[in-house]
Amino acid sequence: MNSILQRCTQDEATKARLKYNPWYYHFDGQKGSKIWINGREMLMMSSNDYLGLTFHPKVIEAGKQAMDKWGSSTTGSRLANGSRAYHRELEEALAAFLGKEDALVTSAGYLACMGAVATFTQKGDLILVDRNVHSSLWSGIIVSGVKVERFSHNNPSDLQDILITENRKIPKMVVVEGVYSMEGHIAPLQEIIEVCRPHNCFIVVDDAHGLGVLGDRGQGTVGYLDRTNDVDVICGSLSKSMASTGGFLAGSRAVVEYARSHSKQAIFSAAISPAQAAFARTSLEILQTNPEYRERLWENTRYYKRLLNHIGVNTWNSETPAVPIVIGSKERTYGIWKSLMEAGIFTVMSIPPAVPPGKDLLRTAVSALHSFEDLDRMAEALEKSFKKV
Ligand SMILES: Cc1ncc(COP(=O)(O)O)c(C=O)c1O
Repeated sequence: MNSILQRCTQDEATKARLKYNPWYYHFDGQKGSKIWINGREMLMMSSNDYLGLTFHPKVIEAGKQAMDKWGSSTTGSRLANGSRAYHRELEEALAAFLGKEDALVTSAGYLACMGAVATFTQKGDLILVDRNVHSSLWSGIIVSGVKVERFSHNNPSDLQDILITENRKIPKMVVVEGVYSMEGHIAPLQEIIEVCRPHNCFIVVDDAHGLGVLGDRGQGTVGYLDRTNDVDVICGSLSKSMASTGGFLAGSRAVVEYARSHSKQAIFSAAISPAQAAFARTSLEILQTNPEYRERLWENTRYYKRLLNHIGVNTWNSETPAVPIVIGSKERTYGIWKSLMEAGIFTVMSIPPAVPPGKDLLRTAVSALHSFEDLDRMAEALEKSFKKV
C-alpha cells in the first residue's frame, strides 16, 4: 500500500461496515423506548439515555430558554472568546454534585477524557492503565507520548505487581473507568486506591457510565464507593444520563485551574453550546431531586438480567445497566444482530478493537424508558435468534 487514498479504498473496517452495514443507521423518528427506521417502529435497546431524560419537558424548555438568551453557539473557545454565565453555573453544579472543588466542561466527553490524561502528564512520567479503557483515554495516552503499562482489566494485584517493579521517583498516573462502557463492570476503586497509595499515583476515573446511575444521589462510581477524596480527576460525558452532549473533568481547584491553562482539548476547541449546557444542568437537577428515574432504571436492569440469565445469555457479569450480550465471533454476532433487526429490535454490534478479541458482542443498555413488556420482547427475540443462528 503506497498511498493514503489506497488505504481508504482497501480498509478492512470500512469494508466490514459496507458488507455488514450494522452501523451508522438513520432513524426517522424517536419516542420513548421506540425509534423508527424507514417508517418501521423498532425497540431501542442500545441508547445511553439511562434515565430517559432526553425528552423531559423541563430539559427541552431549559434548552429553548438558553438559546433565546445566548444564541446557538459560542463560536469559539472560552479562553479566546469568553465564557458565558451558563458555563460556570454548570461547572459549579457538577463540582458540588461530585463532591469536588471545581470542574471544567468541554464540548465532548471524548475531549474531556482525552484531556484528563494528556493534560496532566509529561515526558518521563509513567501511565498505568486498565487495558479495557475507552478510546478517549487511549487517545490521551497516545497524545501525551508518555511511557505506558497496561494492567489486566479490573485487576488491582496486577497493577501492584507492575507498580513494585517501577522506579518510585517517577510521577505516575493510573487510568480507569468507573463503569466500563462495554462490559458494565464497576471498577474495584477501593483496592486500586490502596495499591496506589504508597506510590503516590495521580488517579483518573472516567465515569461516563456511572454518573446518574450509581450512588444514592446518582453521583457516580467514585461517590458510590465513598472514594471522592482519593481520586484526583473524575472525568466523563454529558451525553448519557445527562441527556446532552459535552464532557467534564472535576478535581481540586488547583487541578482544574491547571487544566484551564494547559488542556489543549479545552483551549483549542469551541465551548459547549448554550442549549447543551442547559440540557445537562437541568438533567442534573432532575436526577438529584427525582430518584424515581434511577429507581426505575435499576428495577428494569434487575428484570432484564433475570430474563437474560434465564435464557443462558453471557452478559460478561455486567453489574450495571450497560449489559453486553457476548457472542464471541464476528459472523455469529452479525447473524444475531440481523435476526434481532428483523424482529424489530435495535442493538449495536461491537467487534474488536472496540472489544477484546473473542469478545464480539451486542451492546445493550437498559433505560428508565423501557417497560417490562419491552424487555420481555427483547428476551424472546434474543432466545429465538440464538436458536436460529
Ligand atoms: C467511557 C466513555 N468515556 C468517554 C466517552 C466519550 O463521551 P462523548 O460521547 O460525550 O464524547 C464515552 C462515550 O461513548 C464513553 O463511553
